[in-house]
This record gives sequence, C-alpha cells and structure tokens, in this order.
Amino acid sequence: MGDSNTKAKLVVLISGSGSNLQSFIDQSLSGELPADIAAVICNRPGAFGLERAAKAGIPTELIDHTLYEGREPFDQELIRCIDQYEPDLVILAGFMRILTPGFVQHYSNRLLNIHPSLLPKYPGLNTHQRAIDAGDSEAGATVHFVTEVLDCGANVVQASVPILKDDSAEALAKRILGQEHKIYPLAAKWFVEGRLTIKDNKALLDGDVLPESGFPFNS
Ligand code: GRF
Repeated sequence: MGDSNTKAKLVVLISGSGSNLQSFIDQSLSGELPADIAAVICNRPGAFGLERAAKAGIPTELIDHTLYEGREPFDQELIRCIDQYEPDLVILAGFMRILTPGFVQHYSNRLLNIHPSLLPKYPGLNTHQRAIDAGDSEAGATVHFVTEVLDCGANVVQASVPILKDDSAEALAKRILGQEHKIYPLAAKWFVEGRLTIKDNKALLDGDVLPESGFPFNS
C-alpha cells in the first residue's frame, strides 16, 4: 500500500479520550505500524484525543455533529473532510456516531472499527456490564470491518480477557482497553501491508478466511 516511497495513509476518527489513537501514534512513530496518520477528525469539542494528535503534530479537524441537521449532512461533511487526506484506511477509534449507509459504502472495504466485546456478542453500548450481568467467564474486544449493520461486519482480530470475581465494569473496561491498544494497530498493519483483505463479507489474512470470531490474539 502506498508505493515504495510513500507510506500508507490513515485517517482516524475519534470522539473522546483517544487512547486507541495514542497506540496508533506510538506505533506509527516507532515504525511498528508502517503508516502515517494523515489526520485526526473528531465530532466533540474538547475531546482529549485532539490534544494527543496536536502534540504529535498531526492535523486535526473538528466537525461538531450538533451543528448539523441530521446524519446525512453530517456524514457528507465528514466524507468531504476525510477525502481531502486521501486515506488508504479509515480507523474508527471510539467514534461514537452511527454512520449512514452512504458513508459506509463510500469507504467500503477500507473502514475498520474496534468494539469492546467478543462480537457477535453484545453489539451496541454498555458491553462490559452486560457481559458481567450475563455471568460470562470472559470478555474482550474485536476489530472488524464496518458494514451497514452496527457492529456486524467481518471480524478481523479478537482478544479475550477473563472476567474476575467481583469485577466492575470499569475495571474490566480498563483491562480490555489494554488489549485494544495491541490488536487495533496490528489489524491496521496487516491491512496496509496488503495481508488483510475482505471478500464476500469475509475477512482474509494472507488469503485464508479468518475464523468468524476473528484471529485469536494471545498477548
Ligand atoms: C474503546 O473502548 C473502544 O472499544 C470503544 O470506545 C472506546 C474508545 O476509547 N469503541 P479511546 O477513546 O480510544 O480511549
């Protein structure tokens, strides 16, 4: 991806703290992730992730969704903004917006998301508490391609952590986040190296169809 002189370009979309963004920044700087972050785009003024990007010298864009009348005009502006940077891959990193079908189609096969559950379990919100309440023995995070159905695209890589006795949603979320920081840049690395592809809504690594739960990551 990119040619021999140019690195692949990522655009990262965030809404909040941006700890996943930070792991992309760190791995891009260290060379572990052979890609440049061309821009960070955020829909929430004051999000800490904007500071992380600015500190790393990455261009930032704020597109406040509350200033748009509905999803369509917001997503159209988002597309206009993202496309200026001509990304090879678009990374949703804690971007708390439901995206329109038009947006998802525009970035078809080059749009990744991370979700804090062992998808297909627990799409949507409050995943950690739901896993605890269900009495599950483990929880985790999943990187997946984005399709029009929320949290339902082909899984790429999944990391599990045990749910401990008396675990709180906060403590569990923190442990899972540590895994997120490893598996998300890894999936992006595979993509920009041309190893990760998608065909007929199935994710392939080095040409082999990945398990439905994604590549099982063991740290
Ligand atoms: C992560 O748990 C991610 O899985 C979810 O939102 C959170 C974002 O955290 N989609 P951060 O902003 O990257 O710290």
